[in-house]
Amino acid sequence: PRTAIVVVAAGSGTRLEAGAPKALVGIDSRSVLRHALEGVFAAQPMQVIVVAPTGFEGTVETEVRAAAGDRRDLATVVTGGASRQQSVAAGLDALWGDIDTVLVHDAARALTPSALIDAVAEAVDLSGVIPSLPVIDTLKRVEGDAVVAAVDRSVLAAAQTPQGFPRAALESAYARAVAAGEEHTDDAALFAAAGGAVRSIPGSARAFKITTPADLERARVLLMDTRT
Ligand code: CTP
Ligand code: MG
Repeated sequence: PRTAIVVVAAGSGTRLEAGAPKALVGIDSRSVLRHALEGVFAAQPMQVIVVAPTGFEGTVETEVRAAAGDRRDLATVVTGGASRQQSVAAGLDALWGDIDTVLVHDAARALTPSALIDAVAEAVDLSGVIPSLPVIDTLKRVEGDAVVAAVDRSVLAAAQTPQGFPRAALESAYARAVAAGEEHTDDAALFAAAGGAVRSIPGSARAFKITTPADLERARVLLMDTRT
């Protein structure tokens, strides 16, 4: 395959407060990471780099073996860093072979449909591609407890992953961010800071990020509803 996906799973899950790295927390009988990997390995065949929390590489290997089936040879596990950006960088360093398109995906978006992964991979050209959803809530600009202004949500979108990029341009954008000492909130922002264009395609409600205990509960309910 000419496409790779870097699945970042090295975060600690501070806001989930589950007593273990978030990727290894169970949703049902399967972990957040296991569900994320089921989606990844159900997509078109691609190289898979899984970025593990320090000290949990063996557990992550086991999850990869369980999810990958006959695609085990496409998968590599590496150790993550202190920030998400550093974990992605570690994943990029582990790419091998003739890869020209790289997707970066949060393991925490455990229920992301494989069709969304394929749609992002397909849409990448010279621009980066992110899935996004319209903002539903009415937004306010606030200063302390004072509501200062309404915000026009029609010009806003909520970004998801996987985010896809041409490999060479993403790697140089990462090198540039490291040299500039910049830390970006997502790969699209890092890519844009290097001058790259980024387009949006429709995201998926199921690609929500498990961040809080309420999000984990939502994932549990969705799995009960659909048996996916
Ligand atoms: N991530 C990572 N390495 C880090 C930090 C985050 O690989 N040093 C990954 C997480 O594992 C997750 C994704 O980036 O899949 C999105 O991050 P987030 O939801 O913030 O996860 P955590 O950082 O683990 O959670 P928290 O911020 O609540 O601690
Ligand atoms: Mg975090």
